Amino acid sequence: MQEEPFLWGVATSAFQLEGSPHADWSTWDDILSEKPDVTSHYSLYREDLKLLRQLGVNAYRFSLEWSRIQPHEGEWDEEAVAHYQEIIDILNEMGIEPMLTLHHFTHPLWFIKKYPWHEPDSIVKFGGYVERIVARLKGVRYWITFNEPYVLLLGGYLEGCMPPGIQSPALALRALENICICHAQAYDCIHRRHAGARVSIAHNMAALAPWSRWNPMDRLLARLAKYFYNHSILDGFLEGVMRIKFPFRKEILLSVPIKGKLDYFGVNYYTRVHMRFNPFKRMGIELRHHDIDGHGLTDMGWEIHPGGLEKVLRYASRLKVPLIITENGIATRRDHKKIQFMRRHVDVVERCIQSGMDVRGYFWWSLIDNYEWLAGLDSRFGLYKVDFDTLKRKQTQAAAYYAYIIRSRMNMQKKREVDHVSGNAQVVQEVTHSAP
Ligand code: FCB
Repeated sequence: MQEEPFLWGVATSAFQLEGSPHADWSTWDDILSEKPDVTSHYSLYREDLKLLRQLGVNAYRFSLEWSRIQPHEGEWDEEAVAHYQEIIDILNEMGIEPMLTLHHFTHPLWFIKKYPWHEPDSIVKFGGYVERIVARLKGVRYWITFNEPYVLLLGGYLEGCMPPGIQSPALALRALENICICHAQAYDCIHRRHAGARVSIAHNMAALAPWSRWNPMDRLLARLAKYFYNHSILDGFLEGVMRIKFPFRKEILLSVPIKGKLDYFGVNYYTRVHMRFNPFKRMGIELRHHDIDGHGLTDMGWEIHPGGLEKVLRYASRLKVPLIITENGIATRRDHKKIQFMRRHVDVVERCIQSGMDVRGYFWWSLIDNYEWLAGLDSRFGLYKVDFDTLKRKQTQAAAYYAYIIRSRMNMQKKREVDHVSGNAQVVQEVTHSAP
């Protein structure tokens, strides 16, 4: 039997590469008013897609920029749709599996102003976009409805540092419910239209630990955060109910209609975070990155903690669906650091597979340097460097290293298949010879 190929990919999001004059984020961060189409990917996409061939990936995760497709309420831009369809077609011609994200943080301005996620009409408006785009696009098997809904909620509804810029746990929960309803509807819609589709979300999971192991408040915070951030959505998929508990508040049972609406599970993993109780901070929580194991910090100050990937994959395994690491990467200008990060995390993935976890893919964030949320253009996640003045792309050594990993793992998979087939042939022969 032929094994399904392990997906070796890279991940991007439309807005981070190509911006959009109609997106909420365009007016959110000054940098974007100066440089709306940050990498000019919207015009250079054919060149950028050729880089995928250089890497030898067999999968590519990217997203639609909703605000290009529906720039104004009631408007639908067929040219933008044709643009994304062309990307899908090019990928299929190259033999690269497209993995398409419908929502990756950004919204059309009209949506976030009139129908933010805590409003019931958000379901109707997002649902309308999904119905139409899912009917229109052809050639996609792997779908992601939402990228990191909890980051959207934390940034948009608890800290208020992302659109819609609200700080309210009550509205955050309403938004979470509506997003879950939208996921469920999108899941059904995709399956109605695309036989054999595989649908998931991409869930950001982090290793969360108490700042001080000896402080009971830090331990309590870390425990509550671990449940809310990593696990509550898993319970939603498993049981249709989440048990939400914020510090010093009563537990809330949230019914969400997503039970079983998952064909694989996308895990985005980057780092470990230490948590401390601090009554002077919002919700009493202070976060910090420590370089505890000596693996260092990234250019964004995030702790490099490969061991956490194993932990979160183990948590996610209780879903009993295939797991795909839909994002993993590091912001650094130093090639050797990028390579080391990649090697350590790929090692963890392979160890997890050997220990029996059902991991089916790994996507590096990101293909080329791009705009990083609230951090701008200095956080260099790309396998290809971008000179933001000349727009030239330059291969990093990490790209060459990734290409090497992919080639060697694909060859190993082919060899296993050949051995399996010749093993079978031998068994057939033995059986035939020993037959009376
Ligand atoms: C993830 C986001 C992605 C990118 C990486 C660095 O949380 O999904 O868009 O910004 O972080």
